[in-house]
Amino acid sequence: MTTLPAHILVLHGPNLNLLGLREPDVYGKDTLADVNAQLEALSRELGVSVACRQSNHEGELIDWVHEARERFDGVLINPGGYTHTSVALRDAIAALPSDKPCVEVHLSNVYKRETFRHQSLTAPVCVGSIMGFGLQSYLLGLRALAARLSAVSLPPPAPVLMPSEAPRPSRAPRPSQAPRGRSHKRA
Ligand code: DQA
Repeated sequence: MTTLPAHILVLHGPNLNLLGLREPDVYGKDTLADVNAQLEALSRELGVSVACRQSNHEGELIDWVHEARERFDGVLINPGGYTHTSVALRDAIAALPSDKPCVEVHLSNVYKRETFRHQSLTAPVCVGSIMGFGLQSYLLGLRALAARLSAVSLPPPAPVLMPSEAPRPSRAPRPSQAPRGRSHKRA
């Protein structure tokens, strides 16, 4: 049986097409193409594959999350402004099967910003969130998701037994206890 490399859907939400031009003091100077190129380079290193998409439309993002149910192993998403407003996007993420995890990322640390950004509707239905590290947030998120997926596909680890539970090794007689002089005697 061959195991295919995990296929990860990367979704960028509204206004992220303007990365590099839009509020560079908040979001940095890297463009969306730079982010995607670095994700693709890291995916090769991690032995996974990524498909990167961006949309300014809530419904399109939701359709893509639905598509992930069938065609991808996990989702890495920066929902942009929909993080704070979209019950519908949250519901789409919540509808992913439990073996198709979703990780949320943000370039900025939303908790250092306006209070309306302090609530994420999507984070509670993701396995985890990474924010505040600029482009690195995406790379850390991809690493976390790839690790999560490889842990899912590995067999569960053998149980660790406490010394009191471990089966006792059968005792071979110590040399001092071995019957002397008999077994070594030649006839
Ligand atoms: C963002 C943070 C959101 O509050 C904002 O609406 C964005 C970008 C980030 O990556 O820091 O569009 O998701």
